[in-house]
Amino acid sequence: MRILIVSSEVAPLAKTGGLADVAGSLPPILEQFGHEMAVCMPKYRAVTEGGFATEPVGPISILIGSEPVDGAIEKTILPGSRVPVYLIAQDAYFNREGLYDVEGRGYPDNLARFSFFCRGVLQWLEKSSWIPDIIHCNDWQTALIPLLIKTEFNLYPELSNLKTLFTIHNLAYQGLFPAEQIAIAGIGWDQFHIDGVEFWGQISLLKGGLVHADYLSTVSQAYSEEIQTEEFGCGLNGILRKRAARLCGILNGADYSTWDPATDTFIERNYSAETVSQGKAANKKELIRQFGLSPECLSRPLIGIVTRLAYQKGIDLLVEALPDLLKSDVALTILGTGELNLEEALSRLGNEYSGSCGVRIAYDERMAHLIEAGADMFLMPSRYEPCGLSQLYSLKYGTIPIVRSTGGLADTIRDADEDPEGNGFVFEESSAAALKDTVDRAIVAFRTAQRWNEIVRRAMAQDFSWSTAARAYEKLYRKILREAGV
Ligand code: ADP
Ligand code: GLC
Repeated sequence: MRILIVSSEVAPLAKTGGLADVAGSLPPILEQFGHEMAVCMPKYRAVTEGGFATEPVGPISILIGSEPVDGAIEKTILPGSRVPVYLIAQDAYFNREGLYDVEGRGYPDNLARFSFFCRGVLQWLEKSSWIPDIIHCNDWQTALIPLLIKTEFNLYPELSNLKTLFTIHNLAYQGLFPAEQIAIAGIGWDQFHIDGVEFWGQISLLKGGLVHADYLSTVSQAYSEEIQTEEFGCGLNGILRKRAARLCGILNGADYSTWDPATDTFIERNYSAETVSQGKAANKKELIRQFGLSPECLSRPLIGIVTRLAYQKGIDLLVEALPDLLKSDVALTILGTGELNLEEALSRLGNEYSGSCGVRIAYDERMAHLIEAGADMFLMPSRYEPCGLSQLYSLKYGTIPIVRSTGGLADTIRDADEDPEGNGFVFEESSAAALKDTVDRAIVAFRTAQRWNEIVRRAMAQDFSWSTAARAYEKLYRKILREAGV
């Protein structure tokens, strides 16, 4: 098959979270399976600063409102593969510091930016001799594509039969814009109704994708069911229930070419299941040194956290639980950026408990790897989690996940106190008390070396490699191509 994956971020070119990991890992595997792959993403400043060589492909010109905006298509190769990445370049839109926001504030022209992106992809395809069988879109930034293919036959006649899969990585980010901006996206008022892009008086790009894509998927089985409920449906549960027969969950994989303690180039000492004790000890020592924690922390269970600091991630529960948690014999290293109030609260706690709680407010790839390698446990108290990749990485590093039972976390982590095959510790209730109780249970297990080593051994033996997910996507693409219409 010819498959085009469209994503607003793709690792290692530009990344803010797990979406980039997925968009960077899935195409090369599908290519290994014999498919013709291409990827489209915006050409952000990060791509230029990352030193990725690009070559020009051709110009594009897109109407944004009534103004033609010129841009270009450039090409690079996804590192470590032969997959071409077509970059939608427009300096005024994309040559900026952040991908979607700066200092936590969304760019006011995001509708123009991602309309340009989606239309740029289609204009390039319309002119190109390479027409995919299927376009696999991801999250709201790409959601206009299914809508435009289904509604703008005049502009994109060559593409009108193209099939689309739309993957929801996070239903809470919807691409909501004021109704009066509709002309910027270039869509007509005839789309602005309850079965179209209208959402409580606003434009929801995500909804446009959910309505018009041939098929929908999300990144875990549990999340695909949760989003059909009022609690997790973000107001879109009705439409998702309506489309339930065309919605499925495919659990993400972990890319072990980047996330494997045996080969990881970012960490202090490489290790495998056989050498985990020595390996962890060396990485833990380095982690404690880099965070400036007291040397006593070496013998304490060390909890690592690497996360976007967002409500989704339940970090406010951690902030509430921390003073109490630190009364137990435990240490923490926390790496994250995001909402200002959470950054401030964590920094304050980091200053107050500097000997045992290290806080770094930063986006730091190298440190993320060192935390996975050096910590004993990895905490994810998420309120909801479509899939979550960090718990999968943690298993591979023998860093036992402590998670809230939701979405992909519920699908991948089983509680070692309840299940003889358990690979982590799990809590149900979204509360500081439940979080603390569960960390305490993990600490008890940690204190019994033989039991802990068993859990670590089981965790490290698990295989969440991408090939399972890639086979599932392959099967899904085939099914979509077989079936006609929505
Ligand atoms: P989400 O996509 O919701 O943020 P995931 O668990 O799917 O959550 O993926 C998070 C990815 O982003 C992981 O690869 C993680 O290591 C990375 N990450 C998150 N925050 C940071 C940070 N501050 N520095 C470096 N990497 C980070
Ligand atoms: C989103 C979700 C996360 C998921 C990632 C990749 O960012 O929040 O749970 O792992 O997308 O699918």
